[in-house]
Amino acid sequence: MKIGIVVYSQTGHTLSVAEELKRKLDEAGHSVSLEQVSVVGGRKQGDRAFELDVTPGLGSYEALVLGSAVEAFSLSPVLSRYLEQLDSLQEKRVACLVTQQFPYPWMGGNRAIRQMVKLCESKGASVCGAAIVNWAQSRRETTTAQAIAYLAGLF
Ligand SMILES: Cc1cc2nc3c(=O)[nH]c(=O)nc-3n(C[C@H](O)[C@H](O)[C@H](O)COP(=O)(O)O)c2cc1C
Repeated sequence: MKIGIVVYSQTGHTLSVAEELKRKLDEAGHSVSLEQVSVVGGRKQGDRAFELDVTPGLGSYEALVLGSAVEAFSLSPVLSRYLEQLDSLQEKRVACLVTQQFPYPWMGGNRAIRQMVKLCESKGASVCGAAIVNWAQSRRETTTAQAIAYLAGLF
């Protein structure tokens, strides 16, 4: 399957999970590209006044994994805006990934996933699953391994 993993990752956490997921999906025989959304001139943490720069086109993918950080108990506004500006995700199978610092999914992760699912479905996507990675040192390894096994198993 031709799979696009598309992330916005300001400090590299989500990107590192995406890279590991790519390796796993590659091993399973999929054709996987990892692309990053970016903003013009970089971005200060939490800044909401940004302009999107690189906005990967998704037309060539059969399936997608979309990922980003939790910011202020919500989906990163950069990924939100990127998803809002997409034309269509019709007939795409989509999985969602977020990383967060606080220890429990209810501290932003669940809400961010709900927002991402809603945006994807509003563009016609079929959302097949979602995973939350907790970046706190004590949980990082376990939640990363669980997320990768789960997400890779969806395709
Ligand atoms: C402005 C800002 C707000 C954040 N808000 C939350 C939050 O509400 N809940 C949480 O668990 N983590 C929060 N975090 C932590 C990030 O979600 C976490 O560090 C994430 O893994 C960063 O991913 P990235 O390096 O891919 O951008 C916040 C970080 C920033 C910079």
